Amino acid sequence: MATRVRHHVNPLSMRMLGFDPEPLVFTGQPLHVELGCAEGEFLFRFAAAHPGVQVVGVEIRRELVKDIRRQASDEGLGDRVQAVFANIPVHLGMLFPPGSVTRFYLNFPDPCFKREQHKRRVLTGGVVRAVFEALAPGGELFFQSDVFDTALDAMYVTELHAPPGFESVIEPWTFLRQNPYADTPTRRERFCQEEGIRIWRFCYRKSA
Ligand SMILES: C[S@@+](CC[C@H](N)C(=O)[O-])C[C@H]1O[C@@H](n2cnc3c(N)ncnc32)[C@H](O)[C@@H]1O
Repeated sequence: MATRVRHHVNPLSMRMLGFDPEPLVFTGQPLHVELGCAEGEFLFRFAAAHPGVQVVGVEIRRELVKDIRRQASDEGLGDRVQAVFANIPVHLGMLFPPGSVTRFYLNFPDPCFKREQHKRRVLTGGVVRAVFEALAPGGELFFQSDVFDTALDAMYVTELHAPPGFESVIEPWTFLRQNPYADTPTRRERFCQEEGIRIWRFCYRKSA
């Protein structure tokens, strides 16, 4: 029987604030994390292209988390691909040990960016600080979006809240010219490339 997958979950509802995320299992491999992984397409493509890494998706839609876990088990990936049900701005700081993550990916978040939706955005100052804490030395936060307002807001929040030692890999306040991690494009990324839609990307690195 087909399961109904919600398109939106209110991250500010009490139900989303009052729970503890299930603990993850860490394999000791370099850890790559997608924040807001939806169906996990990027996770599986990335894991296939990079056999020596562990990939974790964080997602607020519980049905999608279940589907990703089922697919990982069906494909015999064990703990190498995992998904966790969590509300990123509230729970990110609880999910990963300090210094454990090689790279966070924030791929095409908040597509309907509106001023009145600001308080629901995924990338908050708290998220920037939690990302920094969880990153290993030399680890990165990579962001991309084809919505300029979303990308500019995300860059503003990152610049404003980045602790010392967390800096753009190029210049401050500067979008990347190209995707340095182009080997596993997401579905939206492929669509934008086919349609000639500009993608706004930035990358911040924690000093080694
Ligand atoms: C537009 S989709 C992008 C999906 C994927 N990253 C991609 O590039 O195809 C954004 C995803 O983030 C999830 N999301 C939104 N707010 C979230 C939150 N507060 N915590 C966790 N996931 C969230 C949504 O449910 C959705 O699956």
